[in-house]
Amino acid sequence: MLVLGIETSCDETAAAVLRNGNILLSNVIAGQDEVHAKYGGVVPELAGRSHVERIHAIIRQALTDARARWQDIDLIAVTAGPGLVVSLLVGLNAAKAIAFSLKKPIIGINHLEGHLLSIFLQETVAFPYLALAVSGGHTDLYRVSAFGSYKTLGRTRDDAAGESFDKVAKMLNLGYPGGPLIERAARSGNPAAHKFPRAFLENGSLDFSFSGLKTSVRRVLQNRRETGESRLSDADIAASFQEAVVDVLAAKLITACKRESVKHAVVAGGVAANGRLRQQVEAAARQNGIQVYFPKPVFCTDNAAMIACAGYHRYRQDKNHADNCLTLDAHPNLALEK
Ligand code: KG4
Ligand code: ZN
Repeated sequence: MLVLGIETSCDETAAAVLRNGNILLSNVIAGQDEVHAKYGGVVPELAGRSHVERIHAIIRQALTDARARWQDIDLIAVTAGPGLVVSLLVGLNAAKAIAFSLKKPIIGINHLEGHLLSIFLQETVAFPYLALAVSGGHTDLYRVSAFGSYKTLGRTRDDAAGESFDKVAKMLNLGYPGGPLIERAARSGNPAAHKFPRAFLENGSLDFSFSGLKTSVRRVLQNRRETGESRLSDADIAASFQEAVVDVLAAKLITACKRESVKHAVVAGGVAANGRLRQQVEAAARQNGIQVYFPKPVFCTDNAAMIACAGYHRYRQDKNHADNCLTLDAHPNLALEK
C-alpha cells in the first residue's frame, strides 16, 4: 500500500511516499527559516504564501524520488490540524484536489498523531507506551494504548518547550529557530552556571509551564546588562536554560511512566532532536527500567513521512475512516482525543 503524505501545518512544506507503513520511498521537506528568521518567529501570512509557491514542486519531487506515478498512490494522508490555518489550507487543498482527480481515498490526520507515531517509521513499539510530544506548539504527555487511542496526561499551561527555546534564542540574539542554536551555544557553556527555576507545579501535576523560566532568563540578562558583570556568558545562560527545560521534561516523563505503570516511552517532536534531552531521558529511563525510543532527528522535526505513517495505520484499522474529499476541512485547534 502506497501512501502519499502531505504536511503544511506550520513552516515546513513537506511530502513523502511511504510503502506499507514503514518503507520510506521519499521524504521531501522544504523549510522556511530564511523567510521568518528576521522576525524571530513564524509569520503566518508569509508561511501560507511560501507553501503556495512550493507545494506542487514538493509533491512532484516526492513522487519522483519514490519513482511512483500518480496512479500508484493508494491513499492520501494530509495534516488537517492543529496548526496555522493559512498554512494547513494549502496542503489540505492540494491533497483534496489530488484525491478528487485520482478518485483515491483521503484521510485528514492530526499533526500530533503524526509525531506520536513517527517512531513506527523506524521501529515497532509495544503498546501501551507514553509519548512526550515536544515541539514549537506543544508540550504534551500522552498514554498511547493503540493506534488511534490517546489519553492526555499533561500539557503546557503557557509556552511550549520549543517556543521557550525560540524566545530565549531571540533574547540572546542567536537567531531562529532557537532550539538547535541554543543547543549549539550550550556546548561551550556550563549547565550549572545559573540555577534557573524548574516549574514542577502543584500536587504532582503532569502539566508543564515554561513562561516563568523565560521571564527568569530575561531578568538575568537585564541584570547582566545593568550591572555590567560578566560572570555568566551567553553560552552559560544557554546551557543553564537548556538544563532547566530538560530536567523538567525528563522528570515528568519518568513520573508519568511510573504512575501509569508503563515501561515504554517515546519522545517526539522538534525538541526531541535535542542531544542533551536525549542523554538525560535515556539516563533516567535506564535507572527506572524504562525503554525509551527517539525518532531520528529528521522524523522529530515536522515532516510528511509521519503523516503518511499515521494515515496508513488509521486506514488499515478502518477502511471506512477515509474522509470526504469535498468536505474535509482544516481545524487550527484540532484535539487529539475524541
Ligand atoms: O515539531 P516541530 O518541527 O514543529 C512544530 O510542530 O512546532 O518543532 C519545532 C520546534 C522549534 O521550536 C525548534 O526550536 C525546536 O522544535 N527544536 C529544538 C531542536 N531542534 C528543533 N529544540 C531544542 N533542541 C533542538 N535541537
Ligand atoms: Zn510538529
